[in-house]
Amino acid sequence: MNAHVPVLDLSRAKRLKASTRSTHEQLDSRIMAAEPFRDRERYGRFLWVQYLFHRGLAPLYANPRLVALVPDLPGRRRLDQLTRDMLDLGQPLPAVDSAPLFSDKAADLPTALGWLYVAEGSNLGAAFLFKAAAGLGLDETFGARHLAGHPDGRARHWRQFTDALDALPFDDAQEQRAIDGATAAFRRVRELVDDAFA
Ligand code: HEM
Repeated sequence: MNAHVPVLDLSRAKRLKASTRSTHEQLDSRIMAAEPFRDRERYGRFLWVQYLFHRGLAPLYANPRLVALVPDLPGRRRLDQLTRDMLDLGQPLPAVDSAPLFSDKAADLPTALGWLYVAEGSNLGAAFLFKAAAGLGLDETFGARHLAGHPDGRARHWRQFTDALDALPFDDAQEQRAIDGATAAFRRVRELVDDAFA
């Protein structure tokens, strides 16, 4: 990306990317420093992070207002693959001991879309993680189902999401709530990573 393009001239997805760049980079570094692909035990901790993040977001993938906006939103949900990955590795599923991150009725749309941006974008970056998981003998049929690309192709599937996101008419306040939602989502993942690899 041209560093001289003012943030406001970017599409919404690119603005979200620019606004969360350093948060994402810090998260990447934190995760890689924790060596989640050193062995299956450490990978299991990474799975725990992913599982709890996606479980918290699951209600959004069934929210009728969001389903109307995002192509194939229910099909994008990766909680089932994560559940199977956990079971593949013999990991117990964490108890449901906290309220979901979102109630399906009350979610503020721009905030929810900011969170979804993070969950969906993470599948684009997951190409790299999927390759690393292969080193542990894991793939789309065992243990790394949630990291697999969509049959349409990761990039194409992502573009369908960002096209829908970019098409929504947001005012400045809504724009900011989307950014705040994405930032909060990255922070939530960071907290989970810190817990998992403490
Ligand atoms: C070590 C861990 C990670 C690495 C190395 C990594 C790496 C990457 C890479 C290389 C991309 C760009 C992919 C492309 O443009 O083709 C990307 C995109 C992205 N990743 Fe990560 N990622 C990691 C973890 C995460 C996590 C845990 C999340 C959030 C849960 C996340 C959220 C995103 C988002 C939202 C994008 C899309 C950015 C955009 O283009 O707007 N990443 N990641």
